Amino acid sequence: MIIPIKPWLELVEESASPFSGGKRSLGLQSGLVLSADPAADEFRLGGSGYRNLYEGNPMSDRQEFYHEPIMGEKILEILEPLEGKQVFDGTLGGGGHTQMCLENGAHVIGCDQDAAAIEHASKRLAHFEDRFLPVRGNFAEMDQLLSDVGVDQVDAILLDLGVSSRQLDDGSRGFSFREDAPLDMRMDDRSELTAAVIVNHWEEAELVRIFREFGEERRSRRAAAEILKARAEAPIETTFQLAEIVEKAVPRVSGKHPATRVFQAIRIAVNRELDVLEEVLEKTVPVLAPGGVLAVLTFHSLEDRIVKHFMRRRSAPELDRPEWPEPRPNPDFAFTLPFRKAAIADAEEVERNPRSRSAKLRVAIRN
Ligand SMILES: C[S@@+](CC[C@H](N)C(=O)[O-])C[C@H]1O[C@@H](n2cnc3c(N)ncnc32)[C@H](O)[C@@H]1O
Repeated sequence: MIIPIKPWLELVEESASPFSGGKRSLGLQSGLVLSADPAADEFRLGGSGYRNLYEGNPMSDRQEFYHEPIMGEKILEILEPLEGKQVFDGTLGGGGHTQMCLENGAHVIGCDQDAAAIEHASKRLAHFEDRFLPVRGNFAEMDQLLSDVGVDQVDAILLDLGVSSRQLDDGSRGFSFREDAPLDMRMDDRSELTAAVIVNHWEEAELVRIFREFGEERRSRRAAAEILKARAEAPIETTFQLAEIVEKAVPRVSGKHPATRVFQAIRIAVNRELDVLEEVLEKTVPVLAPGGVLAVLTFHSLEDRIVKHFMRRRSAPELDRPEWPEPRPNPDFAFTLPFRKAAIADAEEVERNPRSRSAKLRVAIRN
Protein backbone atom coordinates (compact mmCIF):
# COMPACT_ATOMS: atom_id res chain seq x y z
CA MET A 1 0.00 0.00 0.00
CA ILE A 2 1.34 3.45 -0.88
CA ILE A 3 0.74 6.05 1.77
CA PRO A 4 0.92 9.65 0.64
CA ILE A 5 3.55 11.40 2.69
CA LYS A 6 3.83 15.14 3.23
CA PRO A 7 7.03 16.51 1.67
CA TRP A 8 8.51 17.49 5.01
CA LEU A 9 8.14 13.99 6.33
CA GLU A 10 10.52 12.72 3.69
CA LEU A 11 13.27 14.80 5.22
CA VAL A 12 13.07 12.92 8.47
CA GLU A 13 15.21 9.95 9.35
CA GLU A 14 13.12 7.34 11.04
CA SER A 15 15.08 7.06 14.22
CA ALA A 16 15.96 10.72 14.58
CA SER A 17 13.93 13.47 16.10
CA PRO A 18 13.22 15.81 13.20
CA PHE A 19 13.17 18.78 15.49
CA SER A 20 16.30 18.63 17.54
CA GLY A 21 18.61 20.12 14.97
CA GLY A 22 20.63 18.19 12.45
CA LYS A 23 19.39 17.80 8.92
CA ARG A 24 15.95 19.23 9.36
CA SER A 25 15.39 22.74 8.08
CA LEU A 26 12.12 23.87 6.64
CA GLY A 27 12.53 27.57 6.83
CA LEU A 28 11.37 27.91 10.42
CA GLN A 29 14.04 29.48 12.58
CA SER A 30 14.24 28.32 16.12
CA GLY A 31 14.48 30.73 19.01
CA LEU A 32 11.28 32.31 20.15
CA VAL A 33 12.66 34.72 22.71
CA LEU A 34 10.10 36.43 24.88
CA SER A 35 10.61 39.65 26.73
CA ALA A 36 8.66 40.92 29.72
CA ASP A 37 6.15 42.35 27.26
CA PRO A 38 5.02 39.50 25.04
CA ALA A 39 3.28 41.92 22.70
CA ALA A 40 6.67 43.25 21.73
CA ASP A 41 8.04 39.88 20.83
CA GLU A 42 7.99 38.37 17.43
CA PHE A 43 7.51 34.82 16.46
CA ARG A 44 10.51 34.66 14.20
CA LEU A 45 9.54 32.55 11.27
CA GLY A 46 11.79 32.54 8.27
CA GLY A 47 9.49 32.55 5.29
CA SER A 48 7.30 29.68 6.29
CA GLY A 49 4.12 31.66 5.96
CA TYR A 50 3.20 31.07 9.60
CA ARG A 51 2.20 34.23 11.37
CA ASN A 52 3.20 36.14 14.45
CA LEU A 53 1.63 34.74 17.59
CA TYR A 54 0.46 38.15 18.75
CA GLU A 55 -0.31 39.87 15.48
CA GLY A 56 -3.60 41.72 15.57
CA ASN A 57 -4.58 40.27 18.91
CA PRO A 58 -6.52 42.77 20.96
CA MET A 59 -6.36 40.61 24.08
CA SER A 60 -6.00 42.93 27.02
CA ASP A 61 -5.21 40.34 29.69
CA ARG A 62 -2.43 38.82 27.62
CA GLN A 63 0.16 39.50 30.28
CA GLU A 64 -1.90 38.03 33.09
CA PHE A 65 -2.61 34.71 31.41
CA TYR A 66 0.31 34.45 29.06
CA HIS A 67 2.31 31.31 28.90
CA GLU A 68 4.31 30.16 25.96
CA PRO A 69 2.71 27.25 24.15
CA ILE A 70 5.03 24.27 24.53
CA MET A 71 6.98 23.46 21.36
CA GLY A 72 4.73 25.94 19.57
CA GLU A 73 6.77 26.31 16.41
CA LYS A 74 7.19 22.59 15.98
CA ILE A 75 3.53 22.00 16.48
CA LEU A 76 2.73 24.62 13.84
CA GLU A 77 4.98 22.85 11.35
CA ILE A 78 3.31 19.57 12.07
CA LEU A 79 -0.32 20.63 12.12
CA GLU A 80 -0.07 22.99 9.15
CA PRO A 81 -3.13 24.88 10.38
CA LEU A 82 -3.70 26.88 7.21
CA GLU A 83 -6.90 28.35 5.81
CA GLY A 84 -9.49 25.72 5.08
CA LYS A 85 -8.14 23.29 7.68
CA GLN A 86 -10.19 22.17 10.67
CA VAL A 87 -8.27 21.56 13.92
CA PHE A 88 -9.52 19.92 17.14
CA ASP A 89 -7.53 21.19 20.11
CA GLY A 90 -8.57 18.80 22.87
CA THR A 91 -6.71 20.75 25.56
CA LEU A 92 -7.56 24.39 24.95
CA GLY A 93 -6.20 25.63 28.31
CA GLY A 94 -5.04 29.24 28.00
CA GLY A 95 -5.63 29.03 24.26
CA GLY A 96 -1.97 29.42 23.27
CA HIS A 97 -1.73 26.63 20.69
CA THR A 98 -5.23 27.35 19.44
CA GLN A 99 -4.38 30.97 18.92
CA MET A 100 -1.36 30.02 16.84
CA CYS A 101 -3.55 27.83 14.64
CA LEU A 102 -6.14 30.59 14.26
CA GLU A 103 -3.46 33.13 13.38
CA ASN A 104 -2.47 30.86 10.53
CA GLY A 105 -5.94 30.66 9.08
CA ALA A 106 -7.41 27.38 10.36
CA HIS A 107 -10.77 26.81 12.00
CA VAL A 108 -10.34 25.48 15.54
CA ILE A 109 -12.69 23.60 17.81
CA GLY A 110 -11.16 24.14 21.24
CA CYS A 111 -12.19 21.67 23.93
CA ASP A 112 -11.54 21.83 27.65
CA GLN A 113 -13.27 20.28 30.62
CA ASP A 114 -12.39 23.24 32.83
CA ALA A 115 -15.06 25.95 32.83
CA ALA A 116 -12.52 28.67 33.73
CA ALA A 117 -10.32 27.73 30.75
CA ILE A 118 -13.27 27.85 28.37
CA GLU A 119 -14.38 31.21 29.72
CA HIS A 120 -10.93 32.74 29.51
CA ALA A 121 -10.10 31.37 26.04
CA SER A 122 -13.51 32.37 24.70
CA LYS A 123 -12.83 35.98 25.64
CA ARG A 124 -9.25 35.91 24.50
CA LEU A 125 -10.05 34.43 21.09
CA ALA A 126 -13.44 36.06 20.44
CA HIS A 127 -12.01 38.25 17.69
CA PHE A 128 -11.56 35.18 15.51
CA GLU A 129 -15.35 35.05 15.40
CA ASP A 130 -16.74 31.93 13.76
CA ARG A 131 -13.30 30.39 13.08
CA PHE A 132 -13.05 29.53 16.78
CA LEU A 133 -15.57 27.30 18.52
CA PRO A 134 -15.06 26.59 22.24
CA VAL A 135 -16.66 23.43 23.61
CA ARG A 136 -16.68 22.30 27.22
CA GLY A 137 -16.23 18.60 27.72
CA ASN A 138 -13.81 15.75 28.18
CA PHE A 139 -11.68 15.02 25.12
CA ALA A 140 -12.47 11.34 25.63
CA GLU A 141 -15.93 12.26 24.28
CA MET A 142 -14.39 13.85 21.20
CA ASP A 143 -16.63 11.98 18.74
CA GLN A 144 -19.81 13.11 20.52
CA LEU A 145 -18.57 16.68 21.03
CA LEU A 146 -17.77 16.95 17.33
CA SER A 147 -21.03 15.44 16.16
CA ASP A 148 -22.91 17.85 18.46
CA VAL A 149 -21.41 20.73 16.48
CA GLY A 150 -21.99 19.04 13.13
CA VAL A 151 -18.41 17.97 12.38
CA ASP A 152 -17.58 14.41 11.21
CA GLN A 153 -13.85 14.66 10.60
CA VAL A 154 -10.98 17.06 11.22
CA ASP A 155 -7.55 17.62 9.64
CA ALA A 156 -5.58 17.78 12.86
CA ILE A 157 -5.89 16.86 16.51
CA LEU A 158 -3.70 18.33 19.26
CA LEU A 159 -3.50 17.04 22.83
CA ASP A 160 -1.25 18.95 25.25
CA LEU A 161 -1.80 16.77 28.28
CA GLY A 162 -2.00 17.46 31.98
CA VAL A 163 -2.87 20.54 33.95
CA SER A 164 -2.20 24.08 32.83
CA SER A 165 0.01 26.56 34.65
CA ARG A 166 -3.15 28.54 35.40
CA GLN A 167 -4.68 25.55 37.15
CA LEU A 168 -1.48 24.88 39.08
CA ASP A 169 -1.05 28.52 40.04
CA ASP A 170 -4.66 28.96 41.14
CA GLY A 171 -4.30 28.39 44.86
CA SER A 172 -7.95 27.55 45.30
CA ARG A 173 -7.91 24.46 43.06
CA GLY A 174 -5.79 22.31 45.35
CA PHE A 175 -3.39 21.03 42.65
CA SER A 176 -0.26 22.22 44.39
CA PHE A 177 1.30 21.69 47.79
CA ARG A 178 2.81 25.16 47.53
CA GLU A 179 -0.54 26.79 48.32
CA ASP A 180 -2.86 25.82 51.16
CA ALA A 181 -6.26 24.95 49.70
CA PRO A 182 -9.04 22.40 50.06
CA LEU A 183 -8.08 19.03 48.55
CA ASP A 184 -9.87 19.26 45.21
CA MET A 185 -7.69 18.74 42.07
CA ARG A 186 -10.64 18.42 39.68
CA MET A 187 -10.15 19.84 36.21
CA ASP A 188 -13.92 19.48 35.76
CA ASP A 189 -15.82 20.73 38.79
CA ARG A 190 -18.94 18.78 37.74
CA SER A 191 -17.20 15.56 38.68
CA GLU A 192 -17.94 14.11 42.13
CA LEU A 193 -14.54 12.59 42.77
CA THR A 194 -12.19 15.01 44.54
CA ALA A 195 -8.77 14.53 46.09
CA ALA A 196 -10.44 14.76 49.53
CA VAL A 197 -12.66 11.77 48.70
CA ILE A 198 -9.64 9.70 47.65
CA VAL A 199 -7.51 10.66 50.63
CA ASN A 200 -10.24 10.22 53.24
CA HIS A 201 -12.28 7.32 51.87
CA TRP A 202 -10.31 5.06 49.55
CA GLU A 203 -9.02 1.80 50.97
CA GLU A 204 -5.36 1.54 51.90
CA ALA A 205 -4.62 -0.96 49.10
CA GLU A 206 -6.09 1.43 46.52
CA LEU A 207 -3.96 4.28 47.82
CA VAL A 208 -0.86 2.10 47.64
CA ARG A 209 -1.76 1.13 44.07
CA ILE A 210 -2.25 4.67 42.78
CA PHE A 211 0.86 5.99 44.54
CA ARG A 212 2.86 3.18 42.97
CA GLU A 213 1.27 3.16 39.51
CA PHE A 214 0.50 6.83 38.93
CA GLY A 215 3.19 8.39 41.10
CA GLU A 216 5.92 5.75 40.73
CA GLU A 217 6.44 6.41 44.47
CA ARG A 218 8.75 3.87 46.07
CA ARG A 219 7.42 4.61 49.56
CA SER A 220 3.81 4.07 48.51
CA ARG A 221 3.01 1.71 51.42
CA ARG A 222 4.42 4.02 54.04
CA ALA A 223 2.70 7.06 52.52
CA ALA A 224 -0.65 5.25 52.51
CA ALA A 225 -0.12 4.03 56.08
CA GLU A 226 0.61 7.59 57.29
CA ILE A 227 -2.54 8.82 55.58
CA LEU A 228 -4.64 6.12 57.25
CA LYS A 229 -3.15 6.94 60.62
CA ALA A 230 -3.86 10.65 60.22
CA ARG A 231 -7.40 10.28 58.91
CA ALA A 232 -8.33 7.96 61.79
CA GLU A 233 -7.91 11.02 64.02
CA ALA A 234 -9.50 13.70 61.82
CA PRO A 235 -10.37 14.19 58.13
CA ILE A 236 -7.49 15.43 55.96
CA GLU A 237 -8.85 18.57 54.39
CA THR A 238 -6.09 20.71 52.90
CA THR A 239 -3.06 20.47 50.65
CA PHE A 240 -0.73 21.59 53.44
CA GLN A 241 -2.08 18.89 55.78
CA LEU A 242 -1.59 16.21 53.14
CA ALA A 243 1.91 17.40 52.23
CA GLU A 244 2.92 17.34 55.90
CA ILE A 245 1.59 13.80 56.38
CA VAL A 246 3.37 12.50 53.27
CA GLU A 247 6.62 14.15 54.36
CA LYS A 248 6.62 11.84 57.40
CA ALA A 249 6.74 8.80 55.08
CA VAL A 250 8.82 9.96 52.13
CA PRO A 251 12.37 11.23 52.63
CA ARG A 252 13.42 14.46 50.99
CA VAL A 253 15.81 13.68 48.15
CA SER A 254 17.27 16.08 45.60
CA GLY A 255 15.37 19.32 45.14
CA LYS A 256 11.93 17.76 44.85
CA HIS A 257 9.30 18.14 47.53
CA PRO A 258 8.65 14.69 49.07
CA ALA A 259 4.92 14.96 48.29
CA THR A 260 5.43 15.57 44.55
CA ARG A 261 4.74 11.99 43.47
CA VAL A 262 1.79 11.44 45.78
CA PHE A 263 0.17 14.67 44.57
CA GLN A 264 0.73 13.64 40.95
CA ALA A 265 -0.83 10.23 41.64
CA ILE A 266 -3.91 11.70 43.28
CA ARG A 267 -4.38 14.23 40.48
CA ILE A 268 -4.17 11.48 37.85
CA ALA A 269 -6.71 9.39 39.77
CA VAL A 270 -9.13 12.31 40.33
CA ASN A 271 -9.16 13.15 36.62
CA ARG A 272 -8.82 9.53 35.35
CA GLU A 273 -6.02 10.92 33.20
CA LEU A 274 -4.60 7.66 31.89
CA ASP A 275 -8.00 6.08 31.16
CA VAL A 276 -9.24 9.09 29.20
CA LEU A 277 -5.98 9.20 27.28
CA GLU A 278 -6.44 5.59 26.14
CA GLU A 279 -10.04 6.34 25.21
CA VAL A 280 -9.28 9.47 23.18
CA LEU A 281 -6.43 7.87 21.24
CA GLU A 282 -8.78 5.17 19.88
CA LYS A 283 -11.31 7.83 18.97
CA THR A 284 -8.83 9.77 16.85
CA VAL A 285 -8.90 6.99 14.23
CA PRO A 286 -12.41 7.59 12.80
CA VAL A 287 -12.30 11.32 13.50
CA LEU A 288 -9.13 12.15 11.54
CA ALA A 289 -9.53 12.70 7.80
CA PRO A 290 -7.08 10.82 5.53
CA GLY A 291 -3.69 12.55 5.79
CA GLY A 292 -4.82 14.19 9.06
CA VAL A 293 -2.29 14.70 11.83
CA LEU A 294 -2.39 13.59 15.45
CA ALA A 295 0.07 15.41 17.75
CA VAL A 296 0.32 14.54 21.43
CA LEU A 297 2.46 16.34 24.03
CA THR A 298 3.08 14.32 27.19
CA PHE A 299 4.81 15.32 30.42
CA HIS A 300 5.58 12.09 32.23
CA SER A 301 6.55 8.56 31.32
CA LEU A 302 3.15 7.02 32.10
CA GLU A 303 1.41 9.16 29.49
CA ASP A 304 4.23 8.84 27.01
CA ARG A 305 4.21 5.04 27.26
CA ILE A 306 0.50 4.91 26.42
CA VAL A 307 0.92 7.19 23.40
CA LYS A 308 4.01 5.33 22.17
CA HIS A 309 2.35 1.93 22.37
CA PHE A 310 -0.81 3.18 20.69
CA MET A 311 1.11 4.73 17.80
CA ARG A 312 3.37 1.69 17.33
CA ARG A 313 0.45 -0.75 17.39
CA ARG A 314 -1.59 1.37 14.99
CA SER A 315 1.26 1.98 12.54
CA ALA A 316 2.47 -1.56 11.84
CA PRO A 317 1.10 -2.64 8.42
CA GLU A 318 1.63 -6.29 9.31
CA LEU A 319 1.79 -8.51 12.36
CA ASP A 320 4.08 -11.49 12.73
CA ARG A 321 4.32 -14.32 15.24
CA PRO A 322 6.75 -17.24 15.35
CA GLU A 323 3.90 -19.75 14.97
CA TRP A 324 2.53 -18.09 11.80
CA PRO A 325 3.92 -19.24 8.45
CA GLU A 326 3.93 -15.65 7.21
CA PRO A 327 3.07 -12.14 8.45
CA ARG A 328 -0.58 -11.14 8.39
CA PRO A 329 -2.14 -7.73 7.73
CA ASN A 330 -2.65 -5.73 10.92
CA PRO A 331 -6.38 -5.00 11.29
CA ASP A 332 -5.49 -1.99 13.48
CA PHE A 333 -3.21 -0.37 10.90
CA ALA A 334 -4.31 3.27 10.71
CA PHE A 335 -1.31 5.60 10.96
CA THR A 336 2.13 6.32 9.57
CA LEU A 337 4.74 7.66 11.96
CA PRO A 338 6.95 10.42 10.55
CA PHE A 339 9.49 9.64 13.28
CA ARG A 340 9.56 6.91 15.87
CA LYS A 341 11.33 8.70 18.69
CA ALA A 342 9.56 11.43 20.58
CA ALA A 343 10.62 14.98 19.73
CA ILE A 344 11.73 17.17 22.61
CA ALA A 345 12.05 20.89 23.21
CA ASP A 346 15.37 22.43 22.26
CA ALA A 347 17.76 23.84 24.86
CA GLU A 348 16.68 27.44 24.28
CA GLU A 349 13.05 26.65 24.92
CA VAL A 350 13.89 24.66 28.05
CA GLU A 351 15.81 27.63 29.37
CA ARG A 352 12.98 30.04 28.62
CA ASN A 353 10.24 27.76 29.81
CA PRO A 354 11.25 25.07 32.33
CA ARG A 355 7.92 23.24 31.93
CA SER A 356 9.02 22.21 28.43
CA ARG A 357 11.91 20.17 29.91
CA SER A 358 9.83 17.06 30.36
CA ALA A 359 7.69 17.49 27.23
CA LYS A 360 7.66 14.74 24.63
CA LEU A 361 5.92 15.20 21.31
CA ARG A 362 4.68 12.21 19.32
CA VAL A 363 3.06 12.50 15.93
CA ALA A 364 1.07 10.15 13.71
CA ILE A 365 -0.41 10.72 10.25
CA ARG A 366 -3.72 9.08 9.41
CA ASN A 367 -3.41 6.77 6.42
C1 LIG B 1 -1.41 21.98 29.48
S1 LIG B 1 -2.94 22.75 29.39
C2 LIG B 1 -3.09 23.17 27.69
C3 LIG B 1 -2.42 24.47 27.33
C4 LIG B 1 -2.74 24.94 25.94
N1 LIG B 1 -2.25 24.01 24.94
C5 LIG B 1 -2.21 26.33 25.69
O1 LIG B 1 -1.39 26.51 24.79
O2 LIG B 1 -2.62 27.27 26.37
C6 LIG B 1 -4.05 21.41 29.50
C7 LIG B 1 -5.51 21.79 29.48
O3 LIG B 1 -6.23 20.63 29.07
C8 LIG B 1 -7.34 20.44 29.88
N2 LIG B 1 -7.57 19.01 29.93
C9 LIG B 1 -6.77 18.05 30.44
N3 LIG B 1 -7.33 16.84 30.28
C10 LIG B 1 -8.50 17.04 29.63
C11 LIG B 1 -9.52 16.17 29.18
N4 LIG B 1 -9.48 14.85 29.40
N5 LIG B 1 -10.56 16.71 28.51
C12 LIG B 1 -10.64 18.06 28.31
N6 LIG B 1 -9.72 18.93 28.74
C13 LIG B 1 -8.65 18.43 29.39
C14 LIG B 1 -6.98 21.03 31.21
O4 LIG B 1 -8.15 21.45 31.89
C15 LIG B 1 -6.08 22.20 30.83
O5 LIG B 1 -6.81 23.40 30.71
